[in-house]
Amino acid sequence: MSALAQAFELGGHRFRNRLVQAPMCAMYAAPDGSVTPQVIEYYRARALGGVALVIVEITFTDRLGSRAFHAQLGAHDDTMTPGLGELAAAIKDAGAVAGLQLGHCGPQRVVAEPPVVAPSPIPWAPGKRVPHELTIEEIAAIVDDHREAGRRLAQAGFDLVELHGAHGYLLNAFLCPATNTRTDRYGGSPENRLRFPLEVVRALRAGIGAKRLISFRLNGDDLLPGGLGIDAYRGIAREIAQAGVDIVHVSGGTYRVMERRIPPMYLPEAPFAAYARPIREAAGVPVIASGTIHDLDLAERLVREGDADFVSMARPMFADAALAQKVVANRAADIRPCIRCNTCLAREQGGLRGYCAVNPRTGREHEALPPVLRRKRVAVIGAGPAGIEAALTAAARGHAVTLYERAIGIGGQLALAARLPFKSTLPRLLRYYERALEQANVKLECESDPPPASVDAEAIILATGSRSPGVGCTEALRNPEALGERITVVGANTRGAELAWWLGTLAKRVTLVERDADFDDDVNLIQRLVLPGALAEAQVRVLFNTEFAPEREAGTVVLACGAEPELPGSLDAWRAGGRQVELAGECAGARALIGATTSGYRAALRLG
Ligand SMILES: Cc1cc2nc3c(=O)[nH]c(=O)nc-3n(C[C@H](O)[C@H](O)[C@H](O)COP(=O)(O)O)c2cc1C
Ligand code: SF4
Repeated sequence: MSALAQAFELGGHRFRNRLVQAPMCAMYAAPDGSVTPQVIEYYRARALGGVALVIVEITFTDRLGSRAFHAQLGAHDDTMTPGLGELAAAIKDAGAVAGLQLGHCGPQRVVAEPPVVAPSPIPWAPGKRVPHELTIEEIAAIVDDHREAGRRLAQAGFDLVELHGAHGYLLNAFLCPATNTRTDRYGGSPENRLRFPLEVVRALRAGIGAKRLISFRLNGDDLLPGGLGIDAYRGIAREIAQAGVDIVHVSGGTYRVMERRIPPMYLPEAPFAAYARPIREAAGVPVIASGTIHDLDLAERLVREGDADFVSMARPMFADAALAQKVVANRAADIRPCIRCNTCLAREQGGLRGYCAVNPRTGREHEALPPVLRRKRVAVIGAGPAGIEAALTAAARGHAVTLYERAIGIGGQLALAARLPFKSTLPRLLRYYERALEQANVKLECESDPPPASVDAEAIILATGSRSPGVGCTEALRNPEALGERITVVGANTRGAELAWWLGTLAKRVTLVERDADFDDDVNLIQRLVLPGALAEAQVRVLFNTEFAPEREAGTVVLACGAEPELPGSLDAWRAGGRQVELAGECAGARALIGATTSGYRAALRLG
């Protein structure tokens, strides 16, 4: 039996396996912080998906400075308790241990309203808001808030409460000498810097009672100049365990190193896995290893070899709610894989509800699906991500689906992008799609570009993409040799920037031209941290604020912008005979992978 599949007992709580849903702010709460049906159904799906422990996302503790986001959950007030009770019950009824993370955001407050508070008036990054230095009385009030929040969570029925002591939030800011320069009893020596977190642990214990578990999310390394490393954190782990912490959830980093803490597909996996064992040895309590442990062999090894007792995953379980069930049943190939695009993270940091680029059902678990009145013969034209999602959704709803694709295989632009060495997560998604289409009995017709009249179907979904007015990214990816040695890529959107990067690594002389002052909106905050360095290393000349002038450019021009929807034939021809015709993906104006998959999903639902 796989080590990940083995049950575990702790303090009278039974964990059915070793997989944990890591806290991940999904942003489905009401503006006052209360639980909504969207929150409940999202977490119910993860618990039903077989995970042993669900740790509900960071939840704020007071109505002042503890809240990082507007759509965050709160445990700051008794009015929150009934909703939290429904949430805990939904998780437990589905067989998981119900956990929730309490967190005070401290200096890393994303919402614009004051106050921003911290141990010392040090912004989390240069140029960010200077926090108010907490007074001794205010510290005492925050400690009390944790006790009260703990009392509410116990009343609501949670089995475990995790303290967010990592990632640069308030508790971590007190621990870390780079962010805590106080000279009173809460700063200076290691003992003083630990005082506030220990007071919070004890207060929480008083609030939740003896029978419930406390987990503490702790860095193994702050990855910060002047921050703490694994040796210091081993000592801290020992102290918090002695103060009553039952589980240590090992992570690393702060907002300053977001790209290392939540790595995009460009960067390696598992940056903090090596900290689990030293923390476990020092603390003498069970630990959860975390941080982009997407490789299931590594997850298995960490538990089997005793580095960790549990492994948590955030984004992979966002992408596939049933991941744990599939691991336990030895069906890993059926997992819809997270590709580390960080669309979910960009939405959270931008104050929007979280949705997933590869799974349109995530966050929509509460939406009732329209009834299927009759099984229909459905043709989907174009097997890019929009067409694939449309075909899978239609087939899951019982329709008989044929998916037509002009190229030799599925994937469209995704398949081309999968050739880029720094997009190493895409091949796995393509393999998943191939398998899922087969299992869903979707009839796949590749190298097929049927005229409307020859398609025998009652409903059609056109997902035929877009066409560039000149040489586009598609052609460039297909045949980089044909571009010659000097290339100008127009448009610093994700596609353009990644193409320029790749061509640069092929030792071509590449210029990336962008009319605006910065990357396009679809380049998310993490990509913005990585791409400038990558482009510079590949010796790509990047020209912002530069209008593209065809007469000025030497070499081949590749247009990463200005593509037009491509529809094969007239819509009237497709509608002949009263057929229902829906559009999805770029031919319907959708942008980026999340736009493609979501529009494919919605088009399939419109079929009824
Ligand atoms: C959108 C988003 C929200 C997150 N929210 C939290 C949170 O509430 N608390 C927390 O400790 N970590 C949070 N994290 C970090 C994750 O728990 C996890 O450490 C990180 O995403 C890397 O692991 P993964 O590759 O398994 O996602 C968040 C990550 C993402 C992407
Ligand atoms: S949006 Fe992207 S990073 Fe986030 S869970 Fe989905 S695939 Fe993973």
